[in-house]
Amino acid sequence: MDQGKVTTEALRKEFAERFGDGGDIRVYFAPGRVNLIGEHTDYNGGHVFPCALTIGTYAVARKRADRTLRMYSVNFPEDGVTTGSLDELVYHAEAGWTNYPAGVIWAARESGYVADCGLDVLYYGTIPNSSGLSSSASIEVLTGELLRDMFGFEYDEITNAKIGKFAENAFIGVNCGIMDQFAIAMGKKDCAIFLDTATLVYEYAPLVMDGVRIVIMNTNHKRGLGESKYNERRAECEKALAELQAANETSERIPNGIPSLGALTEEQFEAMADAIASPVRRKRARHAVYENRRTIRAVEALKAGDLAAFGRLMNESHVSLRDDYEVTGRELDTLAEAAWKVPGVIGARMTGAGFGGCAVSLVKEENVDALIREVGAKYEETIGYPATFYVVEIGDGPCRLQ
Ligand code: GLA
Repeated sequence: MDQGKVTTEALRKEFAERFGDGGDIRVYFAPGRVNLIGEHTDYNGGHVFPCALTIGTYAVARKRADRTLRMYSVNFPEDGVTTGSLDELVYHAEAGWTNYPAGVIWAARESGYVADCGLDVLYYGTIPNSSGLSSSASIEVLTGELLRDMFGFEYDEITNAKIGKFAENAFIGVNCGIMDQFAIAMGKKDCAIFLDTATLVYEYAPLVMDGVRIVIMNTNHKRGLGESKYNERRAECEKALAELQAANETSERIPNGIPSLGALTEEQFEAMADAIASPVRRKRARHAVYENRRTIRAVEALKAGDLAAFGRLMNESHVSLRDDYEVTGRELDTLAEAAWKVPGVIGARMTGAGFGGCAVSLVKEENVDALIREVGAKYEETIGYPATFYVVEIGDGPCRLQ
């Protein structure tokens, strides 16, 4: 298929080739996401500021008369058409990408939304895999969307996001927060989403930045051990929080208690940080607290029209993820640090979980070519293979396509 122009006709044709023509065949789309600031805060009760992209995942689906699930991905033709059953929704490492849709069908069922017949589904994604742009959350939310429409389930998009997260946590085994699924399910053209992950209260912030583009820089470094490191960071934050809570019980410094790291100001944290026994955990918690406050300030700066301040906070976010949270690595540091030197770059930082994947930058339109040229050269010289650059647009959430 031609990546450049995905049409429903081409998708339907592909589907008919794999599964045969006829019947009620429906086409759906869900975006990928990029997070502008607020990293590793979503499982710490903090704020995030992501947006949905116009690249994403497509699905073509038709109900079956039996309980069989047949799936095919245009991106993984070597896997062929896989066959499963509604009665065997269990995780298998060797089942690869099909674990995501299977996990969502399982998570929906566990939440009371029971698919009563099998499906034939073709998937096609335009998000580079393992890039940190949430190709997995995109498949999850997309599957939630198609189940809702095909089976008439009456859940809203926030519930769709929660079902996707439940699948990721309980079926796939990645202890992620709600950011990715929320950003995708609630995506809105030209807007970033300012979300308080402690309450799920959210606000759309228009991101029409005259003459400024969002450029994503892909390290092309696959995440490898990322999932176990991710769970490790999360556990470190939980332990640090428990230490702070225990200290607060005796001192009662914060009378209403500390429900999460995101509930603390920088000053409150500094006054209590010694209660965290290990210097490493102290750094992790410091990142979670400061990144949350940075995110709140960044959105205030944006609303005040101060894009330069927003960019500075993006850069500070990267430094904190590099030095305190230690999730960047050589590849992401090379991209961000090279981008900071290019005139016209307002801000640049890693995005997503880290350990490889992508960085995001805000760049003046007339400097986009220079960014790609200069950062591209520096990256290849330092790392030994090229980075990839995407000038992206902010798109809407999931939908059924006509
Ligand atoms: C991954 C997770 C998210 C979030 C980010 C880091 O994308 O899926 O829940 O924790 O990492 O901000």
